[in-house]
Amino acid sequence: MASSLRHSANIALFLLFSLASAAQLDPNFYSCSCPNLFSTIKPVVQSAISKEKRMGASLLRLFFHDCFVNGCDGSLLLDDTPNFTGEKNAVPNNQSVRGFDVIDKIKAAVEKACPGVVSCADILAITARDSVVILGGPNWNVKLGRRDARTASLSAANTNIPPPTSNLSKLISSFSAQGLSAKHMVALSGAHTIGQARCTIFRARIYNDSNIDSSFDQLRKSNCPQSSGDANLAPLDLQTPTSFDNNYYKNLLSLKGLLHSDQQLFNKGSTDSQVRKYANKPNKFNSDFVAAIIKMGDISPLTGSKGEIRKNCRKIN
Ligand code: HEM
Ligand SMILES: *[C@@H]1O[C@H](CO)[C@@H](O)[C@H](O)[C@H]1NC(C)=O
Ligand SMILES: *[C@@H]1O[C@H](CO)[C@@H](O)[C@H](O)[C@H]1NC(C)=O
Ligand SMILES: *[C@@H]1O[C@H](CO)[C@@H](O)[C@H](O)[C@H]1NC(C)=O
Ligand SMILES: *[C@@H]1O[C@H](CO)[C@@H](O)[C@H](O)[C@H]1NC(C)=O
Repeated sequence: MASSLRHSANIALFLLFSLASAAQLDPNFYSCSCPNLFSTIKPVVQSAISKEKRMGASLLRLFFHDCFVNGCDGSLLLDDTPNFTGEKNAVPNNQSVRGFDVIDKIKAAVEKACPGVVSCADILAITARDSVVILGGPNWNVKLGRRDARTASLSAANTNIPPPTSNLSKLISSFSAQGLSAKHMVALSGAHTIGQARCTIFRARIYNDSNIDSSFDQLRKSNCPQSSGDANLAPLDLQTPTSFDNNYYKNLLSLKGLLHSDQQLFNKGSTDSQVRKYANKPNKFNSDFVAAIIKMGDISPLTGSKGEIRKNCRKIN
């Protein structure tokens, strides 16, 4: 009697444990099924960044735009077809997100090493980490085991990814809708220490905002006229646009944020103190960024038998 009770308790515990682990991501997820995964991916990322330094930023951004739309499930990578509407033409993505050809190269190398095993969603997570490390930022263990969506959502991409016109409360609520705190939001925004933005995105800031440094304003206006040059680029971090460091926050202290949304983080509001802290303590920024991007990578993954392992990241199997 006692032994059969103990037996059922063990079964219950076992079931609980397997349920819990099925829904959990794990850095060692592919250690048996694809032991050379990391050494297969990193050289492809390295070579893409050597060819074009900006690519590291573009690859990091793909992970953000994937995770904020129904979870980190590779939905962003699906191409539009006559009978399938993906996310690539959503307002925050159209003419803006880039790096899909690099993801294709990585997927091809990974398929060669371990056919049918590694999801495109996990490739985005690893590629984001490798990009940050290659550009001089912190390292972390990437949790893995995500599977790929068989669906995408144009409307969720338009709703969930905050626009650069956002005020602080909108930024906080967009992240909170994904289970991320205001603190996570400020730390993740440090990703704008790398990469570029288009004139059409920051024109309203340089012509209409008053919380902007005047010499910085003049400099940006010189390559972003009132009514032309929409595609002209400027660095999100004017000091070191291809180094992952804490200069983004230093720029905010001197009113040199490029996007309206960037400067909202230091505009006499509730997040000023965190911006000051990261400007003064690069190690604190690094560790908070790592915690926040791991948390972002946990957003609604497909695990177990949900979704699929895509053969080609651009289309469902
Ligand atoms: C806090 C809210 C955020 C807003 C409003 C925002 C908005 C933007 C905009 C408008 C651009 C420029 C797009 C263009 O000109 O085509 C951009 C670029 C970028 N964003 Fe964000 N972003 C946010 C958060 C993040 C996060 C959380 C990450 C990653 C963790 C990220 C990574 C990047 C990177 C790396 C670039 C440069 C990409 C490149 O050069 O190709 N952003 N962002
Ligand atoms: C889209 O249409 C093509 C051609 O009619 C068909 O082969 C394919 O299975 C369809 N795809 C989906 C996702 O319905
Ligand atoms: C995407 O951008 C291009 C170029 O600006 C524009 O012609 C097209 O209409 C846009 N697509 C959508 C769906 O907004
Ligand atoms: C912030 O922006 C939202 C729209 O995105 C608006 O409804 C709200 O009133 C704004 N809040 C402040 C404090 O300006
Ligand atoms: C600046 O604000 C004015 C008044 O709201 C508006 O008409 C104009 O389009 C804005 N300029 C830019 C570049 O967004």
